[in-house]
Amino acid sequence: MPARRVVAFAPGRVNIIGEHTDYNEGLALPFAIEQGVTVAAVVAPGEDAAAESIEALALDLDERDSFLLPAVSPIHPADGWRAFVRGAVAELAAAGTALPGARLEITGDVPQGGGLSSSAALTVALCLALLELGAGAGEPPALRVDGIALARLCSRVENEWTGAHTGLLDQIASLCGAPHAALLIDFRSLEVQRVPLEPEGWRFAVADSGERHSHASSGYNERRAECASACRLLGVDSLREVGAGQLAGLPAPLQRRARHVVEENERVLAAARAIRERDMPGLAALVNASHASLRDLYEISTPAVERTVEGLRAAGAVGARLIGGGFGGAVLGLFAPGTPLPAGAIEVAPGAGAHVCAR
Ligand code: GLA
Repeated sequence: MPARRVVAFAPGRVNIIGEHTDYNEGLALPFAIEQGVTVAAVVAPGEDAAAESIEALALDLDERDSFLLPAVSPIHPADGWRAFVRGAVAELAAAGTALPGARLEITGDVPQGGGLSSSAALTVALCLALLELGAGAGEPPALRVDGIALARLCSRVENEWTGAHTGLLDQIASLCGAPHAALLIDFRSLEVQRVPLEPEGWRFAVADSGERHSHASSGYNERRAECASACRLLGVDSLREVGAGQLAGLPAPLQRRARHVVEENERVLAAARAIRERDMPGLAALVNASHASLRDLYEISTPAVERTVEGLRAAGAVGARLIGGGFGGAVLGLFAPGTPLPAGAIEVAPGAGAHVCAR
């Protein structure tokens, strides 16, 4: 039997608006970007040791990992990119996927820790490649056909194996992305609507604040816990159930956190409308309002992020805001037609969602 090789690609994402709403059953409007992570998975038959183990190579970092399949021996946790590989294999096996031993070659072009969701791109690409390898001749496993179920599994990898209590934004954006479209995601119904995004010369670009963050060690988990406390005090299951008028009784800082979430959901709907009506200046104003709220109410900006936002605006961005978990990472700028992008900013445009490229 010849060696079997499958290749899967998963993109990172940019979130136009709707930050820290996903774990509050709210709304967000991201798009998958063209940059992403590619995983080539190879099964070389006939090598006994390889048949029972996973060997993973992070080619850009020149690093490797290897461990036995969970059917042979429990997988131990690890740090950095290895946590995602080990978690993906363990969670897929726990979900009933029959995995052969394999070599996984990982490459990518999403800046890591930069707020563009390199970690979700890695997890989704790994899972797609492994699912494809594990697929037998019969029915495709449910996870291969149900994007939301796969997004949940990928999110479990991040939650359980890296300790970051993140929501489903990044995984759904990576799995459901499409060229020329933003995605209006409702995290209560998990419905995803494509919003055609053809900005007629307007451009999105990201600039790195230079500050690296990990969700597990930043204030991300603390913000999530604060939202849960606000819900307990309000007697609701999620902040989606309350309006701005019901927050007055909450103590500080919970009132500020909840207000951000409630108002951000409204901004997401207004932003989807602005895109449909091709009102890009209107969209830019909403992006600026989102940033002010993340800075003043949610309090997840930093001096380096503020300098980056100011730098983009000084260079002509009509709208600019931090994206992702905050406490560092990337800033998104929206530029009018004809405005040159500042040095160091990377243009981002909606690209294809995650897919198997070769089987
Ligand atoms: C990170 C998390 C997402 C989401 C954003 C904030 O990117 O991974 O789940 O919570 O932060 O909107």
